Amino acid sequence: MPATSVIGLQWGDEAKGKIVDLLTEQHEIVIRYQGGNNAGHTVKFDGKTYKLSLLPTGILQSHVKSVIAPGVVIDPRAFLKELDALIAGGEDCADRMMISDRAHVICPWHLLEEAALEASRGGSAIGTTMRGIGTCYREKVGRFHAIRIGDLIQKDAFAEKVREIVPFKQNILNTLNPDGAQMDADQIIDEYSGCADRLRPMVADTTAYLLDALESGKKLLFEGAQGCLLDVDHGTFPYVTSSNSSGCGIHSGSGVPARAIGNMIGVAKAYTTRVGGGPFPTELDNEIGQKIRDAGNEYGTVTGRPRRCGWLDTVATRYSARISGVDSVVIALLDVLSGFEELNICEAYDINGKVTRDLPSRCEDLAIAKPVLRRIAGWSEDITNVRRFEDLPVAAQEYVKVAAELIGRPVSIVSVGPDREQTIHIAS
Ligand code: GDP
Ligand code: IMO
Ligand code: MG
Repeated sequence: MPATSVIGLQWGDEAKGKIVDLLTEQHEIVIRYQGGNNAGHTVKFDGKTYKLSLLPTGILQSHVKSVIAPGVVIDPRAFLKELDALIAGGEDCADRMMISDRAHVICPWHLLEEAALEASRGGSAIGTTMRGIGTCYREKVGRFHAIRIGDLIQKDAFAEKVREIVPFKQNILNTLNPDGAQMDADQIIDEYSGCADRLRPMVADTTAYLLDALESGKKLLFEGAQGCLLDVDHGTFPYVTSSNSSGCGIHSGSGVPARAIGNMIGVAKAYTTRVGGGPFPTELDNEIGQKIRDAGNEYGTVTGRPRRCGWLDTVATRYSARISGVDSVVIALLDVLSGFEELNICEAYDINGKVTRDLPSRCEDLAIAKPVLRRIAGWSEDITNVRRFEDLPVAAQEYVKVAAELIGRPVSIVSVGPDREQTIHIAS
């Protein structure tokens, strides 16, 4: 099967960017199929660090075509800013980029409405990235006032839509926040039309392109954003994102049949992190959590927010691996756990005295779930220069083996540092 997929098994930031970059060498097309510039994927090689948000990670390699498929929501201004930063850094990459005419456009009112809604939620705010992601997806599903890339590049039709939508949205915004910003339809039309002129050469029917590529035997690599537990249908609703960020979203977001995916790789950190609100059973809101945050530099790539840290939760990652049909797992950031006398892995939840290995559907139940922890001996050695599994300290080997057993999938890669080279491949 020519297609491989990389998805996150936790609440995002599992090191998907690093793994996609590693695999890009063996692929010809890298595809983002859901989410938008709420993602932040970090790649390090040759002493350089790249942070990709909306652009597929494949953009860094000249032999690769990078595709943004229909399921992605695109803020044209953010897209061009990111592209221009790469071009300014010497990456001549615009002609390697392809954007679906079916993808939806994030407009200024989406950001304004999201800010007003999140502010109104007070303590129960989702803690979104404020990029207009959820409000844009809502428009798409509602089919009212939605704008697609195909509409954006039609100058007159786009202007007409904006003039119709702006007064309607302004009314809603004024109700939500009477002192809030006032939009100017002409200014929006000017700004977005300028973006459209630059996007036009990249816009294509990516669905036909990907299906043809598949039939001609080209190797496709799907780059998931966020993680399975943030999936709008299968995650910890309502503290989720607005797309299908588990493996379930690949088919719907790209138009490529699910059966084309021959290799589904799930990435999990050796511990767990979460940004924003929502239940997190293994959270360590104490000095151990802070030690992990410091060692792993756990601050958001997109918003800079400190990430919440906790023990590896195999109830959650096993669930993610099962719903996504994961073939093998990457255990990333194992190096961050060096220097702990003792570690814990969550193997079950105790919810009101009932022990379960299934993820509850209700956030209220997850919020009261007590993790049943398996204690594992820690190790003190720095492992960032280890390149073979058998050269890891015995305790670290044991940690990975227990994680694999509890998640229920074999481990194919262990990552021991952010650089491409800091990778241990495990033969199956
Ligand atoms: P993504 O959203 O899943 O691509 O992950 P992010 O890039 O948001 O966050 C992962 C962070 O961990 C980035 O800063 C990476 O450079 C870094 N990273 C990736 N793999 C490793 C690793 O094995 N060890 C350490 N210490 N850092 C890593
Ligand atoms: P990558 O691809 C971590 C989280 C936000 C918030 C929730 C909803 O880098 O793993 P949204 O703006 O999507 O409506 O926010 O989802 N979130 C992420 N957390 N990594 C991400 O992406 C995320 N994208 C969204 O923090 O809790
Ligand atoms: Mg990230």
